[in-house]
This record gives sequence, structure tokens and C-alpha cells, in this order.
Amino acid sequence: MKTLFTVREMQAACRSLRQTGSLGLAPTMGALHDGHLSLVRRAAAENDAVAVSIFVNPTQFAPGEDYDAYPRRLAEDGAKLEAEGVDLLFTPSVEEMYPSGATTFVEVAGLGDRLDGASRPGHFRGVATVVAKLFHIVHPDRAYFGQKDAAQVAVLRAMVRDLLFPLQLVVCPIVREPSGLAMSSRNLNLSAAERDRAGALSRALQTAARLVRDGETGAAALRVAMLSQLSNEDGVVRLDYAEVVHPETLLPVADTRQGALLAVAAWVGQTRLIDNLLVEALPAERPQSASLPEQIEAMHV
Ligand code: PAF
Repeated sequence: MKTLFTVREMQAACRSLRQTGSLGLAPTMGALHDGHLSLVRRAAAENDAVAVSIFVNPTQFAPGEDYDAYPRRLAEDGAKLEAEGVDLLFTPSVEEMYPSGATTFVEVAGLGDRLDGASRPGHFRGVATVVAKLFHIVHPDRAYFGQKDAAQVAVLRAMVRDLLFPLQLVVCPIVREPSGLAMSSRNLNLSAAERDRAGALSRALQTAARLVRDGETGAAALRVAMLSQLSNEDGVVRLDYAEVVHPETLLPVADTRQGALLAVAAWVGQTRLIDNLLVEALPAERPQSASLPEQIEAMHV
């Protein structure tokens, strides 16, 4: 594995790899867990070569958010990626990604202000900007993102479509801890007690999923079920949102019959966590079997 620090070096290395085959990119902010490794493995299965970026992107953190506290584990991450047989690791500095005087940003209007974009103004402008830069540097054939960041996926899909990026965006399923907690680099910042309480997010989704499985399609009833689970945690878990939305527009839907994204975000102590569940359209609306049972199973709660 080659580790590269500058945009120029990375561009040259990617250009040379692309001459002999396809290139997959997994953009990350590091502190790698099995969720990230699932992206890397999928990229390795579907491409001739794999590039991974590790860059804690300052523009997607608002002042006062956890940019400084975000976990950084570069040595361990490098060893994990080496063991996966990754070809290129790109770990640029902030100055490399944002040359002085940089004033150009990518904004996905509308979508960028929904769900996490509503709670974290400017967040998706930072995400879209840095991912667009990475796409320009790497020119991947495929780029891999996790379904855990469902709103990010919707924003990036729109960006790829609108800015005509010639690549395929591949979304990989959420990877969970044995307790059901969705894997996240931020889990490293939870105390043991907070980690237990953090299970409330997947429990809320699972409660709603059971209702869906039993025939409930009304968004209001599903929200109430999620909210009551999340508010039952003695104030340790502080709700940000619990929504039932369209997976692409992120706008609220009245029912799940044509498919929906159940999305939750909550503060556990000082750490903000997110989780979600995709409910597929009813067979009458779309002739496809639902993946709900597998998602419930994966939550293990
Ligand atoms: O999902 C993440 O880790 C980040 O938002 C991303 C896509 C690497 C952009 O900084």
C-alpha cells in the first residue's frame, strides 16, 4: 500500500492505476471500524484497485462541534488498510485540500438542509465540497459510502447526478455491534454506560420495524413509537430527530406504503449519533420482497 499526502502525488498514482483497470474509492474520516472495512472489501471485490482517503474534513463541522474531539487513529488505520490489501491511502493536510484563499463550495440546495442538514447547518455543504474534491483527485469508477449516513447518501447521489460525475455511487448496508448499535467512529467517544444507552437508537428503529412488519404504515404512529422509546432513557439520550421521510428527497411522508426511510439522531452525553432503517415499498406498490426482516435481525435487540 502506498500512502500519499499531496493532491499531485495522489492524482498521479490514481492516473497510473486507472490505466490498467478500474478504481474504487472509499472516502473516510478514519478511526476505521468494520463498517468502513465493509466498504473497502466491497470496493476490492468490484474493482481492480482500491483507494481509501482519511481526512477529517473541517468544513463539515460547525464551530463548537466535535472537530477537535473527532477520533484520529492514523497508525492503526494504516495497518488495517494494509491488511485489506488496499492500493492507495490518501491522507492530505487541511492546507492541501483547502489551498489558502479557497472560496468555492458545493451546495446541494434543499436536500442539504434536511435531517442532519437541519440540525447541523452547513454540514452537507462541507461534505459535498470535500467529496467533489476527492472525486476530482481520484476519478474513481465507483465510490463507496455507508447507508448509516442516509442523508449524506441522498445529498451525494444528487451531487453526482447534478454535476455529472462519471462514476457509480455504491451504498453499503449498516454494520452493527452485537448489541445492535450502528458502528460509528464516534462510538469511540462513548463511555461504557453511554454505549449501553446508545442502544436506544436501534431499539427505537426496531420497535417501529416491528409495527411495520405487523402492518402499520402510518408515519405518525411510527414516529410516536420511536419517540417514546427514545424519551425513555432518563435524559441521558437527548433526541435530535425521529423522522419518517422519502429516502431520496428526505421530505416527510404520510405513510410507508411506497417505501420510506426511518431516521433517528440523538445526543448520548456529548456524542451525537445517527441510525436509520429503510422500509421498502409494499409488494402492491413495488413487486419486490422487503429486506425488513434482515434489518431487524441485524439489530440483534
Ligand atoms: O462519511 C464520512 O466519513 C464523511 O462525511 C466523508 C464522506 C468521508 C466526507 O468527509
